[in-house]
Amino acid sequence: AEVVHIVGARPNFVKAAPVVAALAERGVQQAVVHTGQHYDDRMSAVFFRELGLPRPDVDLGVGSGSHAEQTAALMVGLEREFIERSPGFVIVYGDVNSTLAAALVAAKLHIPVAHVEAGLRSFDMTMPEEVNRRVTDQLSDLCFATSPEAVGHLANEGVDVERVHLVGNPMIDTLLAHLDRFDVDALRSRLDLPGTYLTATLHRPANVDDPAIVARLVARLHEVADDVDIVMPVHPRGRAAFEAAGLGRHERVRLLEPLGYIDFVTLVRGAAAVVTDSGGVQEETTILGVPCLTLRPNTERPVTITHGTNRLVVDSELPGLVAKILAGDGLGGTSISDVPPLWDGQAGRRIAAVLASELV
Ligand code: UD1
Ligand code: UDP
Repeated sequence: AEVVHIVGARPNFVKAAPVVAALAERGVQQAVVHTGQHYDDRMSAVFFRELGLPRPDVDLGVGSGSHAEQTAALMVGLEREFIERSPGFVIVYGDVNSTLAAALVAAKLHIPVAHVEAGLRSFDMTMPEEVNRRVTDQLSDLCFATSPEAVGHLANEGVDVERVHLVGNPMIDTLLAHLDRFDVDALRSRLDLPGTYLTATLHRPANVDDPAIVARLVARLHEVADDVDIVMPVHPRGRAAFEAAGLGRHERVRLLEPLGYIDFVTLVRGAAAVVTDSGGVQEETTILGVPCLTLRPNTERPVTITHGTNRLVVDSELPGLVAKILAGDGLGGTSISDVPPLWDGQAGRRIAAVLASELV
């Protein structure tokens, strides 16, 4: 029976690419189901073009909505698809609503589920992703973890250790596979980037949904921009709020459309530092060695702090920390040590090996 990958949102595509490729190497029959959670070319199709992901076998076209509307539509579409295909395994990625919906539907149809990026915990149930992670892990027959802490969280929640496999990080497989395409000089001349700049990207509801918080962040980014240029590809979730609050009216803040993967990672690679609330970007900066200032009170990826370049910050700390970084003083307090264990570009192959042994 075929393996069916469920992808729907930007970070899913980056994580699925190496797993699909590794299963293809083993000759496993597979299909890619796109839920349509993200649908703009720059949030979706560009990743298929750039990452060598096979075109989706189907796009359910679910689109946007409230959590209940979107999750319900995802479940209805996925149930139909799973009944028709009768997959041997459903593989879900990360912590988005498409992940949760697919795991729920598969579990009720008695189809085994594999969760890639299992066990991450922010312990902050106000994040929709934390709800999605916890439920998905409880429903999964195989939990593929990116870090030792994640294995510990699963064990604490009573997940049978036999189901848990520490395999490394497929998002880093993708990064390493494309490393020679991240040509900072070429991007600098194509986009006319300043010599020194910060890259910013924000999309978490806690930062972009409340206009008062957005106004405070815009004021802070403008304060930082008095000293250094900021280049910010804007996620569609925050675009209207940021524009309403006047972001980009500062002459040293440059707003861009969301970038494709190659351009975005190149923009990160060339940055003096990154200001973000993205999950994946905390991991990518860890490998690229770029200081990462994460505008969040917590992270489900603490390994990027202990083994990487990440630091959790509140907005009032930004001007001081950016000044330190620009002065060449580093982040102080963040230890830049070895990269996390198994973040070596082979996670997709490890996942494929486990799945292949389950499929026989
Ligand atoms: C989702 C995930 C989040 C992940 C992020 C990655 C959930 C609950 N959240 O958040 O964990 O970090 O994707 O980027 O699954 N929109 C567009 N075009 C698109 C897609 C979205 O304009 O192609 C706009 C719509 O106004 C939509 C809003 O963005 O309502 C939010 O989209 P949605 O998929 O619900 O959540 P994200 O904030 O993107
Ligand atoms: N990314 C991208 N273009 C952008 C912003 C991000 O290609 O304009 C990539 C980023 O390098 C990472 C992934 O998208 O691989 C992360 O997605 P996002 O931040 O949307 O989601 P999260 O990781 O927070 O769930």
